[in-house]
Amino acid sequence: MDNSIGVGLIGTGYMGKCHALAWTGVKAVFGDGPRPRLVHLAEVDAGLAARRAEEFGFKRSTGDWRVLVTDPDVEVVSITTPNAFHAEMAVAALEAGKHVWCEKPMAVTLADAERMTAAARASGKTAVLGYNYIQNPMIRQIGAILAEGTIGTVNHVRLEMDEDFMADPEAPFFWKNELAAGYGAIDDFGVHPLSLLQVLFGLPSRVFANLSKPYSDRPNRQGGRRSVENWDVSSILFELGPEISGLMALSRTAWGRKGRIALQIFGSKGSIAYDQERLNELQLYVTSDKPSEQGFRTILSGPQHPPYDRFVPAAGHTLGFNDLKIIECHELLRAIAGEPARVIDFERGLQIERAVHAMGQSHREQRWVELS
Ligand SMILES: NC(=O)c1ccc[n+]([C@@H]2O[C@H](COP(=O)([O-])OP(=O)(O)OC[C@H]3O[C@@H](n4cnc5c(N)ncnc54)[C@H](O)[C@@H]3O)[C@@H](O)[C@H]2O)c1
Repeated sequence: MDNSIGVGLIGTGYMGKCHALAWTGVKAVFGDGPRPRLVHLAEVDAGLAARRAEEFGFKRSTGDWRVLVTDPDVEVVSITTPNAFHAEMAVAALEAGKHVWCEKPMAVTLADAERMTAAARASGKTAVLGYNYIQNPMIRQIGAILAEGTIGTVNHVRLEMDEDFMADPEAPFFWKNELAAGYGAIDDFGVHPLSLLQVLFGLPSRVFANLSKPYSDRPNRQGGRRSVENWDVSSILFELGPEISGLMALSRTAWGRKGRIALQIFGSKGSIAYDQERLNELQLYVTSDKPSEQGFRTILSGPQHPPYDRFVPAAGHTLGFNDLKIIECHELLRAIAGEPARVIDFERGLQIERAVHAMGQSHREQRWVELS
């Protein structure tokens, strides 16, 4: 029996390469599941598509993504294009009977996210979003520490996500500054901390958001300037039910912060701290330690934190960003096979989109917005 799966890849930028690496590595790392066949690659034009297909090892290429989604040899489609294309491409792929692995954020509008979810439901195919940070073995370990009650009852969660790629006021305008890409920091960024909340606690029950725009215009390619259409900074209060209060701070203009997703969880018997910039470690403080020796201890990732062991047999040798995508790819293949999988599928992703749009509404109306 042919145990392989035909892969189509749309887009070959930052995330396109990351997906290509994941499809290339997943079988070697995990050993199980189908062997990915790199069948078809699509880009904005045929020339670029052909170059990338040669580099990434795809058999065929096209300058028209619609040709790819109707290719009978393609069984699963990676969508790694800018946000505004996700809905159209995902719906077309699902309607053509393909499984879908689509980058976050799911869509720009709630209506599109709903349409994508309905298409996934109707197709019976697997549709999963690119929430790679939930795959970090250290995040899984945080989940285990919470489940064991090691830090007692959680009362407060604080999340920060910061990068500095828009920190220079003269950084050129690009697609992420358009309203067509979404609210800005919330959907470009905030969806990642929200994905961590979703797997660790569930999503907020209510939110209060304030969005801000540090720089109102940026240089464009034509030598002029263009107004920035969305918000690079967001500050959000949230509640996880009546018991847990929370705070989320997001910025794309935070000089010095390169890939910070800082999570602090405070409980009745201890605290957990984690930062994606140091993704191979977490900090744990427990009151059960002798008072004279209390303090945050650093737990370094190792084979005892699965699936780290599938990459490296030795502790402390560290995983990287692209490895999280390989883990995500493996979970996607498990979901396709009907096995239990740690994924944010379109149904769960839609809940994240509802939280994003509740934050947008809260900012517009300057009030708390409830999420059922
Ligand atoms: N999961 C993560 O950690 C993560 C990180 C970065 C970006 N992303 C998401 O990935 C997506 C892509 O972001 P990126 O940073 O890779 O962008 P990018 O600009 O680096 O790459 C986008 C690619 O899509 C191609 N493209 C655009 N329109 C196309 C079309 N109609 N047909 C075929 N190809 C097309 C572009 O030519 C480019 O190669 C976004 O939705 C973004 O939010 C996710």
